[in-house]
Amino acid sequence: MKRVLTSLSVALAAGLATWGAVHAADSEPIQPIRAPQNINLGMVELGKKLYFDPRLSKSGFISCNSCHNLSMGGTDNIPTSIGDHWQQGPINAPTVLNASLNLAQFWDGRAADLKEQAGGPIANPGEMAFTHTLALNVLSSIPGYTREFRQVFGKDKIDIEQVTLAIAEFEKTLVTPNSRFDLWLLGKKDALTPTELAGYELFKTSGCVACHNGEAVGGNSFQKMGLIEPYKARSKAEGRSAVTGKDSDRFNFKVPTLRNVELTYPYFHDGAANTLSEAVDVMGRLQLGRKFSPDENAKIVAFLKTLTGDQPTFTLPILPPSADSTPRPTPFAAH
Ligand code: HEC
Ligand code: HEC
Repeated sequence: MKRVLTSLSVALAAGLATWGAVHAADSEPIQPIRAPQNINLGMVELGKKLYFDPRLSKSGFISCNSCHNLSMGGTDNIPTSIGDHWQQGPINAPTVLNASLNLAQFWDGRAADLKEQAGGPIANPGEMAFTHTLALNVLSSIPGYTREFRQVFGKDKIDIEQVTLAIAEFEKTLVTPNSRFDLWLLGKKDALTPTELAGYELFKTSGCVACHNGEAVGGNSFQKMGLIEPYKARSKAEGRSAVTGKDSDRFNFKVPTLRNVELTYPYFHDGAANTLSEAVDVMGRLQLGRKFSPDENAKIVAFLKTLTGDQPTFTLPILPPSADSTPRPTPFAAH
């Protein structure tokens, strides 16, 4: 009801001529991405530095951006990530773009939100392989950081809460509005070609929208991978059952966002599908029992590529230098 009232008042405010457009956007299963609200700019700037700082890893070489590269759609574009000592990760790195819209974080949803998630990789032996205490020792030894943390949080001591809050605040800014599809939703009817529109129709009529919907075109439910036909995964991960302990949750994964999906290859939790065309084919068969013709597949792929939005742009953060007392990284130490 609140939603209807909001769109009504927007339409009235903007004049009746736009009613059609606003109404259309509201009745579609996908909504445009909105700009982030209530952002603490000081926290964002600090979080941006931490996101790019490899000194939060044991090797001094791996940062969040190593695996969630903001020049590459917030991913690493490899099937499973490379962690400390070149270890092969167990699962594909999802994008950080629009992750603030997810109902929970990780493929199995084991972290409630971005703040809870951000503490994980630093201490994960297969990722950054550090400990929170060691990371805090490093940060506390760097005068540029102690000054900035004090400015932002008003406390003398840096703690892991502040680190994860700042990173999460930065991540909230990593949304990608203004995709061509969103412009179309907002009423710019020539933003999509007839082929792309036909792809969107197929996406709706064949049932993809049952799981991929909302602002992020996914990210808002856990669903079974291999609903109609079982999926033979390359990864041992069993999804949501690892969190709930319920057998019925086996192979339930968080439905990935399809925003910017053109950039976030390879696909699926095991990174087994190299191309969008392959991913669409697998989805059609395994989730819907439907084999798309090459022409239908190409149309859906064309639609999916219209979901690429404005990528985050900013000046690369310059990190405060280590002090003489800063503990040095140990990239080549035994595990
Ligand atoms: C070594 C590679 C690697 C590093 C470094 C890394 N991540 Fe990740 N990240 C992953 C992988 C792999 C997953 C998926 C793990 C899973 O679901 O079990 C993930 C998941 C996430 C997610 C959840 C996204 C979603 O849709 O569920 C977020 C957010 C995230 N990482 C942010 C970060 C931040 C912030 C940092 C730095 C503190 C970081 N990552 C460091 C590989 C990495
Ligand atoms: C029953 C729910 C469901 C339906 C219906 C569904 N999907 Fe999915 N989709 C998922 C889940 C769950 C995953 C993640 C599976 C995994 O990684 O194991 C996924 C993954 C994807 C991916 C890969 C994204 C990535 O980043 O890895 C694409 C692309 C995709 N779906 C497109 C589609 C299309 C196109 C359709 C319609 C033909 C469709 N999906 C129908 C649940 C669904």
